[in-house]
Amino acid sequence: MKIFKENLTSKILQKNSSKLINKLKIKSNILEIGCGDGNITNFIIKKRKKNHNFFLSDVSEVAVKKAKKKISYKKCQFKIGKWLDPWEQNKFDVIISDVSSINDFIAKESEWYNGVECNSGIDGLKNIEKILASIKKNLKKNGLFILPVISLSNEKKMIRLLDNKFKKISFSEKIYWPIPSFFKNKLAKYKNLKKKSKINFEEKFGIYLAYTYSANCFGLK
Ligand SMILES: C[S@@+](CC[C@H](N)C(=O)[O-])C[C@H]1O[C@@H](n2cnc3c(N)ncnc32)[C@H](O)[C@@H]1O
Repeated sequence: MKIFKENLTSKILQKNSSKLINKLKIKSNILEIGCGDGNITNFIIKKRKKNHNFFLSDVSEVAVKKAKKKISYKKCQFKIGKWLDPWEQNKFDVIISDVSSINDFIAKESEWYNGVECNSGIDGLKNIEKILASIKKNLKKNGLFILPVISLSNEKKMIRLLDNKFKKISFSEKIYWPIPSFFKNKLAKYKNLKKKSKINFEEKFGIYLAYTYSANCFGLK
């Protein structure tokens, strides 16, 4: 199994999560699921204003090993497992999910998921739905849930799912990025997926653009 390489979505989550975490008034328990090589939590740790406790997990054993190596901060726990499954006993103030959340066909064709598990279904939301179904067990009532919204998934459905679960949601700025050239090989298929609202993208001067932003969800309903 290969390890996901830090990309624009990782960077959006690093910056946005760090900003929100640095506003926390008390020392907190912060979980990242789908941590990959741990770059997001490592960034948060480096910029932290308080000595929070950090928890990281991923379905990939090699990724968790790499994250353990990368992060030297002592108040960290690492586990291997799917979704929130490894953390049955714990309650968190903040949960960051970077578990795969784009359309499976696109993931398979792309270079990003070469050897990395996606398994997010046709709308990219299979994992998120699973996580939201059990989040009450792990997130404190007034906790914060942070996740990326990537247009290569069903964005409208995602927002609806989050609205059903959380009292207040804020969004970071939408960042557009060019989809690499693999996209043009199966364009007809992707246009059809867009028609069915399973994914979204735009075309400008022959360049295909997707976008990403962070959803910050405050307080469980
Ligand atoms: C988009 S990558 C993000 C990795 C890392 N956060 C980064 O920015 O580089 C998604 C990660 O989710 C993991 N993953 C996929 N399915 C998962 C699941 N069901 N439970 C937990 N992690 C999963 C993958 O192994 C991968 O490391």
